[in-house]
Amino acid sequence: MRRNPGEVNVLVTRKFPERGMELLKDQGFGVSVWPGEEPMTDKEFLKEAKLSTALFCTLSEKVDRSFLEECSHIDIISQFGVGYDNIDVEAAGELGIPVCNTPDVLSDATADVAFALMINVSRKMFWLHKSIARGEWKYFRPGYGLGIELRGKTLGIFGLGRIGTEMAKRCKGAFGMEVIYHNRNRKAEAEKELGARYVSFEELLLHSDILSVHANLTNETEGIFDMNAFRKMKSSAIFINTARGLMHDENDLATALQKGIIWGAGLDVTNPEPMESDNPLLEMENVAVLPHIGSATTETRNRMSELAASAIVSYYRGERIDNIVNPQALDIKKRE
Ligand code: GLV
Repeated sequence: MRRNPGEVNVLVTRKFPERGMELLKDQGFGVSVWPGEEPMTDKEFLKEAKLSTALFCTLSEKVDRSFLEECSHIDIISQFGVGYDNIDVEAAGELGIPVCNTPDVLSDATADVAFALMINVSRKMFWLHKSIARGEWKYFRPGYGLGIELRGKTLGIFGLGRIGTEMAKRCKGAFGMEVIYHNRNRKAEAEKELGARYVSFEELLLHSDILSVHANLTNETEGIFDMNAFRKMKSSAIFINTARGLMHDENDLATALQKGIIWGAGLDVTNPEPMESDNPLLEMENVAVLPHIGSATTETRNRMSELAASAIVSYYRGERIDNIVNPQALDIKKRE
């Protein structure tokens, strides 16, 4: 028997947009919002989770097997975000704890950031902006600040899911780019709609003018963009990562850029996060870095909050949840 909303205390680990909190409260759920701006420590998180029945959390909360075994009383975990590599989803499934995320609603906003980074890098905009502050804009210099054009170039997508598809649409529509992709599975629909061509990982590296990362972080993808990979890329290539910083080796990336092995890089995710303020990448001409803001628009964050809250509401009503990442959890009879 699932609990009634009045018996549920949802631990909300940050001050997420009010929409989701209002939805939960309107339905009669108890809601405890962690008041701090900074993430909880692991110890605080465990202590609070032990007093809760459902979690509304995000990337910064480590929900590993040992946490889950200590908190097997938790009914449902709803993640504010599309990625959920902070959660041991398999362990949660074994313990009968469904894990939900917020896909779709952030695809446009995140693809916009990938697209913006690509343009900014290709025209050195972040660096040129800073050059004005350095007092370097004195007169017109025909050869100063030259970028590269994107029209007609080849876009390589690593991970053609919802966000990768949105990025491909933007690049095709705005710059008539040819789209190649590498994925675990082929995407017949995208091949038809975008004329996207499936290639091996090796071919993706060899042929992309812009290589944009949109895959999930897994054991297979962790560290996949290292010197070995950069060496196979064109010396004129731009590397964009808006997915997870752990997929690239940041020292190798800096070296590849310094040595001209690749041309530029745009990152919304870094390794580690946060990036240190003295990171050499921040001083490079053909580099643009953002502090993991892919989904950061008011509209998108509101939708994420609503979706994460709706999953909790649906769970306790016994309704179907579309955005559940480990549906097998629902078949396990939970130990109460
Ligand atoms: C952000 O990185 C997310 O996974 O939603």
